[in-house]
Amino acid sequence: LHIVVLMGGWSSEREVSLTSGRGVAAALRERGWSNVTELDMERDVAARLAELKPDVVFNALHGTPGEDGTVQGLLDLMGIPYTHSGVTTSAVAIDKELTKAVLVPGGVRMPAGKVVDSESLYEGDPIARPYVVKPVNEGSSVGVAIVTEEGNYGSPIGRHVEGPWKHFDRLLAEPFIKGRELTVAVLGDEPLAVTELKPKAGFYDFDAKYTDGMTEHVCPAEVPGDIAKSMMDMAVQAHRLLGCEGASRSDFRWDDEQGEAGVYLLEVNTQPGMTPLSLVPEQARFRGISYGELVERLIAEALR
Ligand code: DAL
Ligand code: MG
Repeated sequence: LHIVVLMGGWSSEREVSLTSGRGVAAALRERGWSNVTELDMERDVAARLAELKPDVVFNALHGTPGEDGTVQGLLDLMGIPYTHSGVTTSAVAIDKELTKAVLVPGGVRMPAGKVVDSESLYEGDPIARPYVVKPVNEGSSVGVAIVTEEGNYGSPIGRHVEGPWKHFDRLLAEPFIKGRELTVAVLGDEPLAVTELKPKAGFYDFDAKYTDGMTEHVCPAEVPGDIAKSMMDMAVQAHRLLGCEGASRSDFRWDDEQGEAGVYLLEVNTQPGMTPLSLVPEQARFRGISYGELVERLIAEALR
C-alpha cells in the first residue's frame, strides 16, 4: 500500500501541519509500513499526486487550503481515497458561520455571532463587550482576539499572519463565554473523552496550544457527569449533522455558573491536529488507542 501523507501547504497553519504530518509518517514507518511518502503540498500538488499514484492519502493539512474541501475535491476527481471528511463537510465546517447555520437548527447550542468585515472593527464594537473576534475560516486561534471591558486582551489580530485585520475579509464577533475551555474528539461515531484546557496565562491561543508546558490538559476533565455527557452528545450530534468522517474535534466553552445551559459549542475541527501536544491523539491514548493505531484506523476508514 502506497500511503502519501499530505502536509504543509500555504495556510497560516503550515508549520502545525508539518508537525502533524511528520508525526503520522513516522508512526506509520514504525508500524512497518515501508511505502510512505511525505508530500509538502505546493501548487503542483495535482501533478505530484499523478506521479506518485498513492493508494490512499493521509490528509494532515490544517487550515485553508486543505481543511476546506478544495484538496478533498481534487482527490475525489483523481479517484484517490483520503482520510477525514469529504468536500461538503469540510467546506461547511471550515466556515464558522455556515457551521452555525447547520448545527443550531439541529439543536447544538452555539454563541449567537455577528459576521463583520474588518473595516467596521475600526469604527467601533460590533456587539456588546466582552466579545471574541475571529476570522470565520482559520484554525489554531490564528487571528483570534478577546475584547474585554478594559481593552483588548490576548493576541492582537494579525499577530500570527502577515498584514493587519484587513487580511481577513470575514470576521465573526461572538459574545465571550466566561468560564472553562474544553474539547471532545469523535472517532468513527464515538466520543472519546472530554479534556479541559487550562492555559498558564491568557487564553488557549496559538502559543498556548503549541508550546510545551504552556497549557495543562486535564483528561478526563473534572466536570460533573451531566456536563461531560452534554458535551459528548453535542460533539456527536455535530459530527453527524455535518457528515464528518474519520475523526473530528469539537471545541467548547462552559460557563460553570449556568450549569448545563452554559455549555456552548464553538466550532468543529475536521482536520484536528496530530502533533505531540494535540488533543485527539491524547484522548485516543486515554481510551487505550495508541497514536499509531489511531493513524491506522483513520487509513482503514478511508479505504472502506
Ligand atoms: N486547527 C488545529 C490543527 C486543530 O484543530 O487541532
Ligand atoms: Mg479550529
